[in-house]
Amino acid sequence: MEDLSSVDTSLMQKEVLEGLSKPQKRLPSKYFYDTKGSDLFEQITRLDEYYLTDCEKEILQNNIKEISDRIGPEVMLIELGSGSSYKTRFLLEELTDLSTYIPVDISEEFLLKNVNQLRLEYPKISIIPVFADYTSHFELPVSENSSQKQVAFFPGSTIGNFDPEEAWAFLNNVADITAEDSEMLIGVDLKKDTDVLQAAYNDQQGITAQFNKNILMHLNRVLDANFDIEQFRHKAFYNEDAGRIEMHLVSSQKQTVIIGDKTIDFEEDESIHTENSYKYSLEEFEELVADWYSVEKVWTDEKDYFSLQYLIKK
Ligand code: AVJ
Repeated sequence: MEDLSSVDTSLMQKEVLEGLSKPQKRLPSKYFYDTKGSDLFEQITRLDEYYLTDCEKEILQNNIKEISDRIGPEVMLIELGSGSSYKTRFLLEELTDLSTYIPVDISEEFLLKNVNQLRLEYPKISIIPVFADYTSHFELPVSENSSQKQVAFFPGSTIGNFDPEEAWAFLNNVADITAEDSEMLIGVDLKKDTDVLQAAYNDQQGITAQFNKNILMHLNRVLDANFDIEQFRHKAFYNEDAGRIEMHLVSSQKQTVIIGDKTIDFEEDESIHTENSYKYSLEEFEELVADWYSVEKVWTDEKDYFSLQYLIKK
């Protein structure tokens, strides 16, 4: 995940105050990822309870031949979000005939640092970074008459952070930006036993709690706020009706917090909703993408906890 330290602070201020003025207070999940938050997320991916990362790795490793055959030779691989991870390298390592790799990320600093490193490691691949927010419209660096097949890569079940309408808009945007007949390899977390889900967001070591509370430290630092993180507790639970894990920060007492020149009041036990992480059944996901993509192939791990799905534009 990227360091968003270069993000526009007036936009951040606007979004934060808007979210905290709602009846159910809300913060945009993207503000988890300052440098400290990105580091805490890395730690989360190594927790025993956080099965998502291990399952996705297992699926990639066990099916890499079939996956790289589907992607095919001489394609343009477009990674949406940070391109520094193990998963990226694993794919670049296996896709020996890859022509072009396009990492798309909102943090320019992060992108350039990783791109320089990847160019040294993979001198035969043409690496063209695109500095953009992939939830909005952006242009791919392709010439009109290029016949290269485009394959988008969106791992980690990041799509789970979007509400269904946002996920729909995201897919619409990707379908719009990419060429006809383009394809997508996407990681999607699946519905499963509630205890397994809840444990993944309530780890024994309390790393997820630190990750959740760090969003308030980020606001303190960037927006000149004075949240006392001792006065908020981590809460994560599976909302069965909505099919999602919700993370909240619950105020331990009645209190008033200052953000710049504004104040926000909290009742005792009032929460800020900080994140949704949607879990899909295979049928639900197929339905979600159906306006633009057909699901060509689904790979899952041994326990059927997680899926990697190969989508083809309709
Ligand atoms: C990076 C959005 C996939 O929802 O599981 C991990 C973020 N939040 N623990 C997820 C997260 C709490 C993660 N994603």
